[in-house]
Amino acid sequence: MVINKKGKLEELIDQNNLPQHIAIIMDGNGRWANKRLLPRTMGHRAGMSSLKEVVRACSDVGVSTLTVFAFSTENWKRPLQEVDYLMKLLVEYLHRELEELHANAVRINVLGDYNSLPHQCQLEITEALQITRNNTGLKFNIALNYGSRAEIIAAVKKLAAGLLAGEICLEEISEESFAACLTTSGMPDPDLLIRTAGEMRVSNFLLWQIAYTELWVTDCLWPDFSREHLMQAIWDYQHRERRFGGLSRNKQGEENV
Ligand code: FPP
Repeated sequence: MVINKKGKLEELIDQNNLPQHIAIIMDGNGRWANKRLLPRTMGHRAGMSSLKEVVRACSDVGVSTLTVFAFSTENWKRPLQEVDYLMKLLVEYLHRELEELHANAVRINVLGDYNSLPHQCQLEITEALQITRNNTGLKFNIALNYGSRAEIIAAVKKLAAGLLAGEICLEEISEESFAACLTTSGMPDPDLLIRTAGEMRVSNFLLWQIAYTELWVTDCLWPDFSREHLMQAIWDYQHRERRFGGLSRNKQGEENV
């Protein structure tokens, strides 16, 4: 880590090499609460504060898209009380933050089937989508009741239906037409995937979209994740070489000699 005289990594961020799209697996809320002998729900509440800070930071720094994994299709397996609390927190978050998000031109979008969430969640989501739909700032995707395999199967079915109906031919099935059937259609793939709480897995999150994404895993638990951690992740990203299966710039040169 490089800190300048003012001690602010943020000032060293190269504006010309920002990750356009950052995805985050916000893990470790439960462990954060356990360490403090608090109920797990308090970990989720503290995690909401980190989310607020990170959305603000992404907006400030000029990241164009942020996608956070807030509730997976597998999270329904958790105790009812925890699931209920997470749903209430979502309502609270949208209710409280919508004004500021809208004022900052953030465009909210939901990845995943939110029709099976509690009615109040659906209402808040519908309002948030409606109010922010024309905003041109940060695109903020909240993955809710989201699972990447289910998303892929839905895309396959969409293409297959088009094929059966004679609307498309086999040759038209391509990486591009497939990606256009995903919920992230029209967005760039994530450049950077951040995972907190140290687990080395991708947990059914954006499996198609992260094919060439840079992974950044930290032991920091999500409620402890701050603007500085985000800047560190961006700074590290900017010091990696992305080859997309090709050769490094150096080796490329040597090959050409
Ligand atoms: C994973 O931590 C986190 C979640 C399943 C929920 C994420 C939710 C928030 C950050 C709350 C704010 C979000 C919104 C949209 C209001 P975990 O519970 O699996 O942690 P553990 O692995 O330590 O048990």
